[in-house]
This record gives sequence, C-alpha cells and structure tokens, in this order.
Amino acid sequence: MSRAVMAMGGPAANARELFRDAGLERGPDGVLRLGGVSLAAVLRDVGSPAYVYNGGAIRERYQAIASAFAGIPHRVHYAVKSNSSLAVLKILKDLGAGADIVSGGELRRVTRVGFDPKLVVFSGVGKTDAELEAAIGCRIGGINIESAEELTALERIVGRRSVEYPIRLGIRVNPDVAAETHPYITTGAGGIKFGVPTEQVLGLARRIAGNPRFTLVSVAMHLGSQLLDPAPFANGAKKLIGLIDDIQALGIRSIEAVDVGGGLGIRYRNETPLEPRQLSEVLAPLIAGRGLVLHLEPGRFVTGSAGVLLTTVLYRKRSGGKDFVVVDASMTDLVRPSHYDAYHEITEVVARGRPVRNVDVVGPVCETGDFLALDRPLADVEAGEHLAILCAGAYGSVMASNYNTRLRAPEVLIDRGRYGVTRVRETLEDLLRGETDDPFHR
Ligand SMILES: Cc1ncc(COP(=O)(O)O)c(C=O)c1O
Repeated sequence: MSRAVMAMGGPAANARELFRDAGLERGPDGVLRLGGVSLAAVLRDVGSPAYVYNGGAIRERYQAIASAFAGIPHRVHYAVKSNSSLAVLKILKDLGAGADIVSGGELRRVTRVGFDPKLVVFSGVGKTDAELEAAIGCRIGGINIESAEELTALERIVGRRSVEYPIRLGIRVNPDVAAETHPYITTGAGGIKFGVPTEQVLGLARRIAGNPRFTLVSVAMHLGSQLLDPAPFANGAKKLIGLIDDIQALGIRSIEAVDVGGGLGIRYRNETPLEPRQLSEVLAPLIAGRGLVLHLEPGRFVTGSAGVLLTTVLYRKRSGGKDFVVVDASMTDLVRPSHYDAYHEITEVVARGRPVRNVDVVGPVCETGDFLALDRPLADVEAGEHLAILCAGAYGSVMASNYNTRLRAPEVLIDRGRYGVTRVRETLEDLLRGETDDPFHR
C-alpha cells in the first residue's frame, strides 16, 4: 500500500486519485502538502479552522474543460456560487472564463475582479428589480429568465428607464429530464422551482422577440449538480435544440447559444467523475452545423477537488459504545455532510502511522446533525492535532453560516509555491456590527 493510501486510513478511500485531483501529496516527514505547500505551516500561520485552495489545481480543471471542448464553438461561464472567493474568481477570469451568477452580490464580485460583463450570464428564479436593474446597467451578456412573471418585471423595468441597447435574454427551460443525484441538487426535473416548463417557452419567445428592447440570445437548462452520467445532458440538450428549432420556425433568428448549465460530478470517495471529454463527445454532434455556441456553467468540477478545510481536534470522547472526535470545524463551515449526507474524505495533516479506528467526526454546534463524518476509519489522533477535510473547494465556504454565533473561517490561496490569505477570519466585531439591543432609541 502506498504511503498516501496508508495515511488516508481507510480501504474504501480512493486515496491516490483524491490526492491527485486536489494536488495533495504527503512528504517523507508525513506532512500533507497542497500545491507543494505544507498545510501544517499554513495552520501555524492562519489558525484553525481554515479553507485552503490550490490555484494550480483550479487551472488544471478549467483547462481540462477548455481543451475537451476546443473543437466546438463554446464558452465556459464558471458558476460563481460554487466558490466565490475573489482570488479564485481572478484566476478564472485570467484564464478567459465567463461567469454564471445568481445574485446581485455575485454580480458585484465578478465586476470587482474585472470580468467583462458581456461574459456574464445571470440565472436564478427570484431576481429582484434591483438585481435586474444592476445587470442591465452593466450591460450583462445575458439574463436567463425563469418565469413569465420575471419577463413581466423586465418589461416594467425597461418601460420606466431608457435603454440604449437591446437587453440580451435567455430562457432557462425546465426540460423535465431526471438526473441521478441528491434530490436537493436536482434542478431539471418537472415539479421543481427552476426554469420555464417547455410548453410555455414559445409564448415567452414571442413576447421577447416582439419587444425591441430585448433580444432572445439563448435557451438554457441546468439539470442538477454532481452528475456522473452524460446521458441526461444529451437528452436535455436535444430538447433545447428542438425548442430552438421551434423558435426559429416562428421567424425568430436571434438565438446564438445553447446553454447546458453545469453539474459535472467529481470524485468525493470512489465515484468515477464525469470527464469533460465524455460530455463533449455527446454534445458536439448535437450542435454541429447549427451555428450555435455551446455555453457551459461548471462550478463544482472546477473548484470542488481543489480545496481542503483544515480543522483541529478539540477532544475525543466515548459515549454509547461509540468514539467521537470533536473538532473545531462544524456544519457552519461545511454543511454538505449534514445537509446532503455528503461524504468527504478526512486525513491527518501530519500522519504518524497510528492504528485506525471507526469514529464520528463532529463539530461543536448544538445539533446532533452537526457531523463531518460518521463511522469513519480514522487514525488515532489526539487533541491539538490537525485534520484535512478533502474536496471542500466547492459549496464549502460559500455555504458557511454564523449559527451559534460562530465566526466564518478564513480562506487561503496556494499558488505557484506560495500562500496568501484571501479572506481573513471573521471577528466578533464583524458579526455584531449593525446589531443593537435597543432598536427604539438611536
Ligand atoms: C444555473 C446553474 N448553473 C450552474 C450551476 C453549477 O453547478 P455545478 O457546480 O454542479 O457545476 C448551478 C448550480 O446549482 C446552477 O444552478
């Protein structure tokens, strides 16, 4: 067994691949390194818990998508929701990515790091007037409308302001394609809040085309997240292309792009990830010769494997015949295990070759659901030692909360052999700012 595998401490773990995906390695001294940098050193400097991202791994993942689709007219809009760290966004902007956003806050982030607004697409079922105004104001590349009422809101907005150019709209369709993943991250099946049902699409296309202040530029879908099979993408894309044919048959000739959303699944345990090439193989023939640009919105695939959450063991305890390792990270830092029952591999920051036993790794939050791993083989670590929770680069820090008045962890970027803090640890002063115990007197 390789040193890496031993250090993972569990036969189920696909250690070699998980380490490779992240850019992790264990030195002869047993110390875990990410992107060549000692995570023990990062912890000494930054404290615990802390998120750490590997810029090199993020670039590799983005390039894997770009090269798989190189033969097809395409554009990658990185899904900002998966990891919206400004430093991560800057890496992706410098690689030429566009951005998929879902809020005015995310719009602010992408403009702050200098994304060209023309390369930004705005999705989401509940855009407010203020968010739509901001998107129009910066001349965004596309607003993917998700309901007839959202189009009404846009009509109202353009009716009361001057707009010197047609606003570029897409229709996000609910293609009613089932995709196998956790129900909370299924987004393209019928009876779910996202997208416009197919039978409403032509009516909306007519309304958009009939208003000189709008141009219909794309038809979009997003089927769900952590998808491992290319077949639903192909089924959904066929439906979108059928709809584009129907729209064009109405004489509407402005559509430039078919947007298949994000959702490429990664390895958390022993899954076979969905490789971009598998996707390009099924999608290329569908769009060939149609003069359409393929839009992709990957998030998790780009950042998921490239980040770890570092935490410190506070206590060990034994109760009800079980062993618990209580750590200083919790569901407020990484909600995926308790929210989605997600598996995240956990390994020691400094491996010492100790025996392994099954434990629950739990946080300090007052919820029985506050766990990071259940019944997991882990080396016999002691209080004060550090653990790394793998595959925490996507839907990790962005989903953090302040429950139990806990402070959000700092974020660190490792790049080209160096590391730097991209977001400092929150303070109690940050948290209490704007609160008062006396709301009636100012
Ligand atoms: C519209 C849209 N695009 C892209 C994504 C990114 O998905 P993933 O991170 O699985 O690639 C999401 C995720 O929810 C989404 O809602």
